[in-house]
Amino acid sequence: MEHLERDVVVIGAGPSGLTAAYELNKAGKSVAVLEARDRVGGRTWTDVMDGATIEIGGQWISPDQSGLYSLIEELGIETFERYKVGKSVYLNEQGEAVIYSGEDFPVAQNTVAQMNKLIGLMNDLAAQMNPDKPWEHPQAEELDKISFHHFLRQNSNDELACNNVGLFIAGGMLTKPAHTFSALQAVLMASSAGSFDNLVDEDFILDRRIVGTMQGVSKTVAERLGEGIVFLDNPVLKLEWFDGGVVAHGQSVTVSAKKVVVAIPPNLYSRISYVPALPRKQHVTHQHQSMGLVIKVHAVYDTPFWREEGLSGTCFGPDALVQELYDNTYIGESTGTLVGFISDAKADAMWELDDEARRAAILKGIAAYLGEKALDPKVFYLSDFAAEEWTRGAYATSYDLGGLHRFGPAQNQNIGPIYFSSSDLAGEGFQHVDGAVRMGRRSAARIIAELDGTSYDESYDGVQTLTIIEDKVSA
Ligand code: FDA
Repeated sequence: MEHLERDVVVIGAGPSGLTAAYELNKAGKSVAVLEARDRVGGRTWTDVMDGATIEIGGQWISPDQSGLYSLIEELGIETFERYKVGKSVYLNEQGEAVIYSGEDFPVAQNTVAQMNKLIGLMNDLAAQMNPDKPWEHPQAEELDKISFHHFLRQNSNDELACNNVGLFIAGGMLTKPAHTFSALQAVLMASSAGSFDNLVDEDFILDRRIVGTMQGVSKTVAERLGEGIVFLDNPVLKLEWFDGGVVAHGQSVTVSAKKVVVAIPPNLYSRISYVPALPRKQHVTHQHQSMGLVIKVHAVYDTPFWREEGLSGTCFGPDALVQELYDNTYIGESTGTLVGFISDAKADAMWELDDEARRAAILKGIAAYLGEKALDPKVFYLSDFAAEEWTRGAYATSYDLGGLHRFGPAQNQNIGPIYFSSSDLAGEGFQHVDGAVRMGRRSAARIIAELDGTSYDESYDGVQTLTIIEDKVSA
């Protein structure tokens, strides 16, 4: 067993933990990062299959995600635009594929009007929210007591409009059925992205991708940190903490440090045995954040055949098995890659099937949008983060009904030397890599201020690197 002494130990080498370590390191603090897996990147992960680049986890970046943008700029990493040329396909309630263009789904005018009414309502509620403190929303308690499913139906009697709008948050973002989380949680999702309009605009929210892939961002940060800082295959299962610091026990490395950044998703906090135990409030709070469930489907074809038919590859079907589909061909590749999503209860049903039946059902689901050519991909791969011990779901965690206003205020409090950091705790960039970066920087800034005996600027949003805001932090 190797023993290290550092200013700060970081648990988890996902984007949040690595960003925290990077900022601390640049500020002259000694750090060690203990990572459970044999790779960095956490919920961002890439593989090459039969020559095609497959982003198994997080990948898209939107224009408002300025924390992540500033990090990649600092690292010299570029982006490329997602393929968006051509018409989209909507699978209607009768299972018919309707080709359309423009922002509105091809549904009855009255349903479009009802959808716009609901979207407007969500925009107004989101505009009243500080995403860092959703529990301070003027209607926080009222909105947290009603499920998003019922909130939509309270405001519209058009079932299709409710389903279509529900899809953007339920299946599309939190990856839980709309009856399991509150309207407040849904408003937070919109507010964290700037507005509900931004969420429903796939050209905004899924705007660009990273050259070198999203996992490449974490790999580059780890490279910049250099040798002897990131220790893979080192799950931390025990964390001793006391007034002056912590001892983190990894598999082959223990680290004594003044502070610790626990940069793992909240559903995994209880995997660590804290000595002494965490306070009552954290014990309770941590039980109310759970992961959603989504299967990310990858199908690679010899060519992007849909483009020849004037289609962008963008498809939606609120009632369909594969609820969303996009052209996900990586820059410079001649093959065509589609990525689709199967969420919550539909994902449960897919995992009940054997491999062959599951593949057949999912490809049939894709072919419902794009025709029979979709039935025979050369690569077929399903991202299964729910089966991964160090994630256990996808994309991220959210509170159960009533949990956000009740437990949220405790989520970002440090417990003595212990600081929690992840995309799941972010305001802006909530559930996204941007939020992970912002939280990593904010945790680092708080720790630097503590260690240096200076004050921390509570308004710091994690967008600028600490080297730029150093004066502000130490002011
Ligand atoms: P993350 O989970 O990434 O990292 C935590 C790390 O801690 C992991 O490496 C884990 O192994 C490690 N760990 C856990 N327990 C440990 C222990 N006890 N000891 C040591 N290490 C431990 N976002 C986005 O911006 N755009 C997108 O397109 C998508 N799409 C998407 C698709 C899929 C399928 C998923 C699963 C996720 C996304 N996301 C996304 C979300 C995005 O990937 C996610 O928000 C960030 O990766 C979160 O970064 P964190 O560092 O907070 O956690």
